[in-house]
Amino acid sequence: MSNSFYHNKVVVITGGSSGIGLAVAKEFARRYARITIISRDIEKLKVAQSAIQKINGEIVVDIIAADVSLKEQITAAIDAVGIKSGTIDVLINCAGIAAHGRFADLTNEQFEKTLQVNYMGVVYASKAAWKYLKAAKGQLSFVSSVAGYLGLIGYSNYAPTKFAITGLAECLFYEGKDDNIRVSIIYPPDTDTPLLHNERQNTLPECLALSKNIEVKTPEEVAMIYIRGLQKNRFEIYCDFNSRLIRSFKNNLPKVFALATDMVIKKSRKSL
Ligand SMILES: NC(=O)c1ccc[n+]([C@@H]2O[C@H](COP(=O)([O-])OP(=O)(O)OC[C@H]3O[C@@H](n4cnc5c(N)ncnc54)[C@H](OP(=O)(O)O)[C@@H]3O)[C@@H](O)[C@H]2O)c1
Repeated sequence: MSNSFYHNKVVVITGGSSGIGLAVAKEFARRYARITIISRDIEKLKVAQSAIQKINGEIVVDIIAADVSLKEQITAAIDAVGIKSGTIDVLINCAGIAAHGRFADLTNEQFEKTLQVNYMGVVYASKAAWKYLKAAKGQLSFVSSVAGYLGLIGYSNYAPTKFAITGLAECLFYEGKDDNIRVSIIYPPDTDTPLLHNERQNTLPECLALSKNIEVKTPEEVAMIYIRGLQKNRFEIYCDFNSRLIRSFKNNLPKVFALATDMVIKKSRKSL
């Protein structure tokens, strides 16, 4: 038995079948939480469920197949947890997708799809969970990205959806106080997951040059930092010094930042 912060707490994680979401679920399992993971592919969910239960065989892990971009599906999934458990203490909005490439080469449908999953999916899940979180004095959390405050060449499909989450979290940070909901947001840098592997197949060379000195994190590292930040009730959670530095450099010296970025892009083009 554990006496931890999240012992017996009802935790819902969208996108919990893979990558960062799965690693976060395992951290909650170590803390004896009652976990539900939600994503689309039931087979992936079953594999993830047994991986989480391997971490802690004493807890129950529930799985629900639902698409966060479909309002009725995700609302029903969240209500199913709330009704079954009588409460929801933590919602982690982690489900996300990305398409990469130059703006002119991406289709309108790709923009619509990413926005619908990455942003509206978060809105639907959070709205459905709000009343349970309010009753539980719970935690509502968002997985944004360094791309949630930094626009980069090749990221026009993905970054704006993560900027939108940054804005939403800032608004709800204040509204949450009125309803006793603690709001937080994490900004992971590049993390070694299937999403990053897919991304790397289409990443523009200029973008690779910009991120070449950035250390890729493991999902386990991100999850560990995340759960510590949640336990400490941090609003903004950064995974390393560079992620903080980039935000502060860009905010405080925007012209110098843009010049430096341009220089790296030009240099990378010369070596192509
Ligand atoms: N990896 C990185 O470098 C990185 C960096 C910063 C932020 N992030 C963010 O971290 C989050 C997790 O990404 P990851 O890297 O861990 O990717 P991942 O391994 O591909 O996991 C994505 C998860 O989201 C689920 N998902 C995707 N579309 C969904 C939908 N429409 N409805 C419900 N679930 C859906 C996936 O399951 P199904 O496909 O079965 O539905 C999967 O469980 C994302 O929000 C991503 O933007 C990632």
